[in-house]
Amino acid sequence: MKVIALLFKSSAWKFTVAAIASFISGTALTAVIYMINEAIKTEMANSDTIIWQFLGILLIYVTTSIFGAYLITLLSQVVIQDMRLTISNKILKASFHKLEYQTKRLFTILTDDINTISSIIIKLPAIFTAVTTVMACFAYMIFISWKLFCLFMIVFLMAFILYRLPLNSYGERLRKTRNHQNVLFGYFEGLIYGLKELTINKKFRSLYTKEIIEPLTEEQKKHQVIGKTTVEIFSRWGEVILFLGIGGILLIIKETGITTYDVMVQFLTVTVFTIAPLSKITRVLPDFQRINIALEQIDSAGLDLEKETAPALEEDNTKIFPVVESEPVISLKNVAYSYYHTEEEKFFKLGPINLDVKKGQVTFLIGGNGSGKSTLAKVLCGLYPPQEGEVTHFGKKVLPENVENFRDQFNVIFADFYLFDEIIHIPQSVIDEKAQEYLKLLELDKKVEIVNRKLTTTNLSTGQRKRLALLISYLEDKPIYLFDEWAAGLDPYYKKIFYKKLIPDLKARGKTVFAITHDESYFDCADEVIMLKEGQLLETHLLHDQLQEFFN
Ligand SMILES: Nc1ncnc2c1ncn2[C@@H]1O[C@H](COP(=O)(O)OP(=O)(O)O)[C@@H](O)[C@H]1O
Ligand SMILES: [Mg+2]
Repeated sequence: MKVIALLFKSSAWKFTVAAIASFISGTALTAVIYMINEAIKTEMANSDTIIWQFLGILLIYVTTSIFGAYLITLLSQVVIQDMRLTISNKILKASFHKLEYQTKRLFTILTDDINTISSIIIKLPAIFTAVTTVMACFAYMIFISWKLFCLFMIVFLMAFILYRLPLNSYGERLRKTRNHQNVLFGYFEGLIYGLKELTINKKFRSLYTKEIIEPLTEEQKKHQVIGKTTVEIFSRWGEVILFLGIGGILLIIKETGITTYDVMVQFLTVTVFTIAPLSKITRVLPDFQRINIALEQIDSAGLDLEKETAPALEEDNTKIFPVVESEPVISLKNVAYSYYHTEEEKFFKLGPINLDVKKGQVTFLIGGNGSGKSTLAKVLCGLYPPQEGEVTHFGKKVLPENVENFRDQFNVIFADFYLFDEIIHIPQSVIDEKAQEYLKLLELDKKVEIVNRKLTTTNLSTGQRKRLALLISYLEDKPIYLFDEWAAGLDPYYKKIFYKKLIPDLKARGKTVFAITHDESYFDCADEVIMLKEGQLLETHLLHDQLQEFFN
């Protein structure tokens, strides 16, 4: 019953008030049943007063149940909203290196699991009312005849045990289906991002659905059909037991005469009122399995639904990392990083790397494909925490508690960058002042406009998108710039602007620049060229020979 805990945690007093309101409404409903029973018994004597009392209690029932349901609805919606926000925030706050290899899973969590939980949480108000009604009815049944109630409970528990039997194996099937869902979402990703390739390639396309997607969905279908049908079979048998049991009770009453006919009629009337809410409750139980599985997924992705209580971050980065001109802007000492989640035996290791970069220095990083340049870039900007050694910024060690401020010093254009069309983090004044000039310089002024801190389009060619990313990085105006193969694939004109105008501009503004590049002819634009080979930084005296070898 983790959901109930979620509701309670969301607001203890609203939950309590809702519980009280539901309790009153349950009691009022029982009173209604009581009055009906009494009316039957007394053949409608004093009908005037009874009608007024009856209407009054009905009114109490209606208002309290609406109020209780309103509060529970409100709470459940708050829980759903909190869950979406908390998980989004958690994803953004979690360590990038832990999440980057499970993006498909995160996607499934954000869409599938959260929807599962929401779709069940919205059923809770009705369940809440059902539970209180059942409890009030039980109390009334005890009041009418505790002996009959005991008999009824024996029957009820037998039915309930039968009903519970298949739920665990159903849960297992749900768990399997949910694991398939991660894989399926990965295939869907291929479907969307590989749309060009799939549309062009007829054979691959038909195999992709037939041999990739279909078997998995087939498997899911099997589990769902078997699981659901089993649950249905057992619950119908549960109902049969309940009805047979009630028949049995009638027989026992007849044979033993433990109560009178009147009492039995009263008791049965209440029983009839209990059956509908009871079946509502039992029907929702398998859903709780689904919630548990969804929560398990969220948990095992390293996310949880606990709200953050961490202290607010120091906003001013220069307070955390004061500029010390005599210290390198970034220094790596014996820094090493390897991808620990890769299953290959020969996994990649970057480093140990020693590197000092002065403020305002322009560094070009070169090296063959797979030599570890992009990995080094991610370590440099604090996305990957070094597994050995340490990174310092102006002489101060980068630690988990200040890494967020450290990262904020960087503007990075990754090789596989994502271009957001919202640029809400850039002040309007900066946009007004500088955007037009750079849009012109990068020849984007006829393509894109910035309206209300939003780009009018990002549907552009790769080169145009790269130029746009560059424009935004300019507007962001951070102390350190990191470009991962920005110029690759651009035409000579923009390369020239990049190396001969923009980089010198940045340098003149005191910015530190790292550029991963293959543009040999512009190496003179750098203060330093460093080279990676199989994860190792080459000694400077080897660089010349290696460069010759590399470019020949
Ligand atoms: N996310 C990742 N998970 C596992 N291995 C990776 C990942 N990214 C890169 N690698 C491995 O690390 C090595 C270096 O990759 P990378 O730094 O991207 O090289 P470069 O940018 O120099 O081409 C490669 O062998 C690659 O297989
Ligand atoms: Mg790379």
